[in-house]
Amino acid sequence: MHEKFPPEPALNAGRLKGRDIMAQLWGGRFTKETDQRVKAFNDSLSFDIRLLPDDIAGSIAHAEMLGKVGVLTQEEADLIVEGLYGILEDSESGELPVTDAYEDVHSFVEANLINRIGETGKKLHTGRSRNDQVALDMRLYTRSRMEETGSLIVDLMEVLLKLMKEHTQTFMPGFTHLQKAQPVTLAHHLGAYFEMFGRDAGRIADAMVRMNECPLGAGALAGTTYPLDRSFTAEQLGFFGPTANSMDSVSDRDYLLEYLFDLSVIMMHLSRFSEEIILWNSNEYRFIELDDAFSTGSSIMPQKKNPDIAELVRGKTGRVYGDLMALLTVMKGLPLAYNKDMQEDKEGAFDAMDTANTCLELFTGMLETIYFRKDVMEQSARRGFTNATDAADYLVGRGVPFRDAHGIIGRMVVECISRDISLEDLTLEEMKAFSPDFDQDIYEALSMKNCVDRRNTTGAPGAAAMEQEMAHDEEELAEYRELFIYTDEDDPEE
Ligand code: ARG
Repeated sequence: MHEKFPPEPALNAGRLKGRDIMAQLWGGRFTKETDQRVKAFNDSLSFDIRLLPDDIAGSIAHAEMLGKVGVLTQEEADLIVEGLYGILEDSESGELPVTDAYEDVHSFVEANLINRIGETGKKLHTGRSRNDQVALDMRLYTRSRMEETGSLIVDLMEVLLKLMKEHTQTFMPGFTHLQKAQPVTLAHHLGAYFEMFGRDAGRIADAMVRMNECPLGAGALAGTTYPLDRSFTAEQLGFFGPTANSMDSVSDRDYLLEYLFDLSVIMMHLSRFSEEIILWNSNEYRFIELDDAFSTGSSIMPQKKNPDIAELVRGKTGRVYGDLMALLTVMKGLPLAYNKDMQEDKEGAFDAMDTANTCLELFTGMLETIYFRKDVMEQSARRGFTNATDAADYLVGRGVPFRDAHGIIGRMVVECISRDISLEDLTLEEMKAFSPDFDQDIYEALSMKNCVDRRNTTGAPGAAAMEQEMAHDEEELAEYRELFIYTDEDDPEE
C-alpha cells in the first residue's frame, strides 16, 4: 500500500533563506530575481510533496540505468542512489525539512542531492526532464492509490456477501418509484450493490492494465540523444514496458481521468446506497438501527441519532464529480506537449482519491455494524400489498386470464385499503366474493416466503436463484481479492 509521506507537508517558510545552498534548478538564463508572487503562484511543492517516495523511486531507477548504459560511471550511479535513499530517510525522520524554498518535489530532491553529495548530484538529471519525471511520479502514485481503491472495494464486497448470506430469509419490500412493489429479500437487495461494486473493481483493474506503461525517458517531449534503456527503467518500476511516443508520454493524463471517472461511479454507487441507508434509518421506515459508533447526535435535540456518515458520503460525491470535470476541462484545450496547466491535475486528483477512498472505508465500517430490523422489514412488505402480483398469478394458475386476474386483485386491494388490512387478512369467503377460483391454498401462496422463493429465474430473489448468485459472487470476490489484496506470501521481503 502506498504510504503517504509526509502526511502533512511541513512547510517552514523561509527557513533556508540567506543560506548558501542550492534550492532552485534553473536561473542561468535569467537576469532578475523571480517576483515573490510569481514564485508563490508557480510553486507546487505544498501539494506535490506527497509524490516524494515516487520521485525518489523514479530517480533511483534512472540513476541505475544511467550507470548501466555507461552515461554515468558505476561509482557515480552508486553515490547518487545512496544519496537518494538518504534524502528519503532524512525527510521521513524530519531531519531534512521541507521548506518553501523549493519549487516542487523534483527540485527538492535534486537540490538536496547536490547539497548532499556535491558535483556528482548534478549528473542525475542527464537525459531527463521534469516533464517525464512528473508524468512518471503521478503514474506511480496513482497506480498505488488505484490498488488501494481496489482493496477497499474488496473489503466492502466482503461485508456485502457476508450480510447476504445472513439475510436470504429476511423479507422486505422491493420498490419502484419508491412505492412498495414486490417482495424481495435483504440478501437480494444487497446483492444488487455487490454487482455494482464488482463492476467498479473491474473498472479499476482494467484501467490499471491500460495505465501501466512507463513515461520515463521521454525527456521534455522528444526523447534524448543518450542511449537510455527505457525497458530497464520500466521493468525496475514495475511497468509492463515503456510508453510508445515521447510527446504523448509527457502530455497524457487519460489514466488519471479514467481513474477519476471510476471514482465518480464508485461515489455514485455509495451515494445511492447512502440514500437508502438514510431512508431506512428514518422514523418512518425503521428498517435499520445504525451503530452508535457510526452515527452522531444533535446539539439541541437530545433524541437525535443522525446518519451523518451516509449523508457525508452522499454529499462528498459532488466533490469527486467536480474533480473529474475540472481535469477534463484543464486538458481540453492543451496543445502538445507539456503545458504548465497540467500541474493543475494534482490537487483535484488527490482530493478525489483521498475523498473516495475514505468514503469507501467509512461506508464499509458503517455497513458492517448496522442492525437490520427483520420484523419491521417483513411487516412493511406485508402491509404494502407487495404480494398482489402473486395473488393475480394464483388466479392465473386457476385458468383466469391475467388481465382479468389483475382487475379482480385490484378491486380486492381497494377493499383492503378501506379496511386498513392486508390481502391475506380477508377470509376465504370474502375472497370468493371477488372470484370463485380462490381456495384455502391462497394463504400459502400469499406468504412472503412463498412469494419470494418461487421467483427463481436467474438473478431473481428466490432461494435457489440466490444460491447460484452467491456462489458466483464468491468466485468474483476471490478473483478481486487475489488481484488487489497483498499478503506476506506475495512479497517475501515485506
Ligand atoms: N510541477 C510541475 C508539474 O506538476 C513539474 C513539471 C514542470 N515542468 C516544466 N516544464 N516546468 O507539472
